[in-house]
Amino acid sequence: MVARGVPTAARLGAQGAQGAPLPERMRSPCVPDPLAMVIFGATGDLTRRKLMPALYRLFQQGLLPDAFAVVGFALDPLSDAEFREQMRTAVEEFVGAPDERDWERFASTLGYVSSDFGDADGYTRLTELLAGVERKTAGHRLFYLAIPPTAIEQVVQQLDQAALVRDPAAGSWSRIIVEKPFGRDLDSARELNAALGSAFDESQIFRIDHYLGKETVQNLLVFRFANVIWEPVWNRNYIDHVQITVAETVGVGQRAGYYERAGALRDMVQSHLLQLLTIIGMEPPTSYDPESIRSEKVKVLRAIRRLPPESIRRKTVRGQYAAGVVRGAAVPAYREEPGVAADSRTETYAALQLSIENWRWAGVPFFLRTGKFLADRATEIAIQFRPAPNPILDTVEADCPDPNLLVLRIQPEEGISLFFEAKVPGLAGPLRPVSMDFSYQTSFTGTSPEAYERLLLDAMLGDATLFARCDEVEAAWALMTPILTAWEESGPEPYPAGSWGPDTADRLLARDGRSWRVP
Ligand code: BG6
Repeated sequence: MVARGVPTAARLGAQGAQGAPLPERMRSPCVPDPLAMVIFGATGDLTRRKLMPALYRLFQQGLLPDAFAVVGFALDPLSDAEFREQMRTAVEEFVGAPDERDWERFASTLGYVSSDFGDADGYTRLTELLAGVERKTAGHRLFYLAIPPTAIEQVVQQLDQAALVRDPAAGSWSRIIVEKPFGRDLDSARELNAALGSAFDESQIFRIDHYLGKETVQNLLVFRFANVIWEPVWNRNYIDHVQITVAETVGVGQRAGYYERAGALRDMVQSHLLQLLTIIGMEPPTSYDPESIRSEKVKVLRAIRRLPPESIRRKTVRGQYAAGVVRGAAVPAYREEPGVAADSRTETYAALQLSIENWRWAGVPFFLRTGKFLADRATEIAIQFRPAPNPILDTVEADCPDPNLLVLRIQPEEGISLFFEAKVPGLAGPLRPVSMDFSYQTSFTGTSPEAYERLLLDAMLGDATLFARCDEVEAAWALMTPILTAWEESGPEPYPAGSWGPDTADRLLARDGRSWRVP
């Protein structure tokens, strides 16, 4: 038992310390029921880069059940052996050369069905293959849709027609994981929800947003709700504004086929940035069960004022990278990337100002920005506090103390810093901001699990806390859709690759005397 009162070195986070127990929902996972997982899109990039490496790491840690099977489902004409070989290459590339005996055991769980997503015959073969393993896996099924959104409805219909979806009340369960992007606007998200809902109950649907699987994002909940000192100041009385930045130093790469139809608002803001915003903005949940947490997040989204058309021009910024230099290397303009139209109006940068109209946050602007080929890679949330009252009325502005700033670094250099004023030692010592820092690297040993490890395991265990609910994605699209519509009338502003985005984004904050923090 951990004593209350004076913190011990162990409780203060000395390496390897156990600390206070986490709420049940946030604790380390246990081993799921036996199950068969079917991956649609099993020869695609996501399976290769994320899913198979995550499954293999779970296997290495003993977190997969003894009775476990993975069935890959995709168009490529592969035998089981060829599919296993492909997966081995993926594991070698993203995890490292596997131990031969371990690999043999893991590979023996992999099978493959080659089929078009719309071909009923493929689902018959899938049923037969599952029948072969289900004596061991007790009939539990996890479907993973690593496929383009346009194919989702088709796969769901086929699964339903082939009677592959179990009733949630039946002894064995079926669940489905759906990758983002979940639709491309409010109407398409609703259609997708309806299509999924025609075959699955909401409790069976797991909409993935890999940001929620990041260790540092889960820690935001702990930071806010397991520490008493933040709650009294976590409101409009003390906070001046919030900045959420997801800056990338990669460009569109080979993903133009997808990105040209998406753009930064759909690709990043509607999902990842709004997820971060809801965790910062939510009220303490009444319990740590998935529905309480998700309901609080939905309330935040619903409290955000929808931007009317006349505000969209003032409160949103969209940019597209022009040629430039990123980390010392010359890079082409977005319009010169392979697969991108020469007159493309797709935005690679988006910034916006949102306000949450509730008692906690009214009057506190939330500034969100994300972009590709920016000056540095950084995902962080900066909470800027109000300035301290200054009793010396004739103090020039430059001499006023800097307001406190709390920076939650999601990646890289994961950690948290609190900036406050200190007196520079000396007889004439002026004030200077200094910081208290927490770094994952120095406080904890070991590496954090990959987001997909956590999320796959949670879906196998049936814990939906870190997945978006139906009303949550629709509330997010309800906010983004008017902006997307208004943006159709004009093009993005160019910004040099390697910069911090278009100048207009600076003006978004500058008009109220604020500025973006350089991460
Ligand atoms: C994905 C987007 O969801 O997130 C990509 O589709 C983006 O465009 C990626 O690069 C960023 O994820 P992370 O984990 O690298 O911050």
